[in-house]
Amino acid sequence: MASVIPNLQGHVIESISKTISRRFDHPHETLPDTNLTFLNSVVANLRSSAAEPQEVQASVHRLCIECKKLRDQLAPDAWANCVKQIRESDLLSLVHQDPFTSRAYNKPRGYAGDAVMMDYIYGLDEGWQPPATSLLGQRIFQYTISASASAGVRARREHLAEKLDEIARSKAKPEVMAVASGHLREASMSSAVRRRRFGRFIALDADAESLAEVERSFGRYGVQCELADIRKLLAGRMDFGTLDLIYSTGLYDYLNEKTAQNLSCHLFSMLKSGGKLVLANFLPTIHDIGYMEACMDWFLVYRDRMDMMGLTKLIDQADIRDIHVSVEENQNIIFLEVTRT
Ligand SMILES: C[S@@+](CC[C@H](N)C(=O)[O-])C[C@H]1O[C@@H](n2cnc3c(N)ncnc32)[C@H](O)[C@@H]1O
Repeated sequence: MASVIPNLQGHVIESISKTISRRFDHPHETLPDTNLTFLNSVVANLRSSAAEPQEVQASVHRLCIECKKLRDQLAPDAWANCVKQIRESDLLSLVHQDPFTSRAYNKPRGYAGDAVMMDYIYGLDEGWQPPATSLLGQRIFQYTISASASAGVRARREHLAEKLDEIARSKAKPEVMAVASGHLREASMSSAVRRRRFGRFIALDADAESLAEVERSFGRYGVQCELADIRKLLAGRMDFGTLDLIYSTGLYDYLNEKTAQNLSCHLFSMLKSGGKLVLANFLPTIHDIGYMEACMDWFLVYRDRMDMMGLTKLIDQADIRDIHVSVEENQNIIFLEVTRT
């Protein structure tokens, strides 16, 4: 699923327009259940099947399918009305026994998808103890952290770890920066980090608690923490010199087009010749999208291939050596890689 575009100008980008969201364009699909009658059976199943993992997971899976169908086929107002009804039903207190769902909904750090939530996802690979909750909550947690969006986040981490190792193989003492680093969990999958192959490794985030964890886990490998909001970067109030690799995962999903384009242009200007900017974003086609909005109050800015290419709009095309767009194996997260001439 990768397309390499040597230079944007004058090229017909054939592979790009495939993933454009097709809301309101499902002529062969059955009509969505706008009376939400499925809710009663999902609630009844969840209440009666707390000890049966397969039953719980089948119910949450059905809930995800129904929510996505509604979101795909309804006008935004009608979908918003469904979300309201779902939240007023008995369902919410059941699915909120899942720590992943409830943390997104309650936003203890002010936004969904904080680094602690990310660790719930990464914990599956790491064998970390799941957070304490009811038996039903544990069963739903097993579903949500195994669901394809969560699998995509784990693949994203792996992708960045590979990028880190790749740049350390191709260049001595490369200088890198992770923007909105969270807990920087990709670093623990990178042998180059553990072998201290980087000349500089900056982890920038606006969340002091997240950076304290980065310092605890990776300070000894030379990772330097920078507590800053991207607005400070954009205002030109931070000078890091030039870098070989700048990447950001889990941030662009929250940025509107204007900010995303400005930030991309600014980060690109911080690259050395031959340096790479790597950006990740959720695709609009993800299976869990309706559940995330209705039950987790987790609204993201989704981007397809065209949108990702659009992030380069403010960059002088003459400065771009090549652009590479790829999608991870779960088809949930898209990567844009822009190399400087
Ligand atoms: C979804 S987490 C992603 C963390 C990590 N990059 C990952 O992939 O697991 C989003 C991170 O963005 C940070 N963040 C959100 N808004 C920010 C801003 N305006 N400036 C800097 N960091 C920000 C949060 O503190 C959080 O750590």
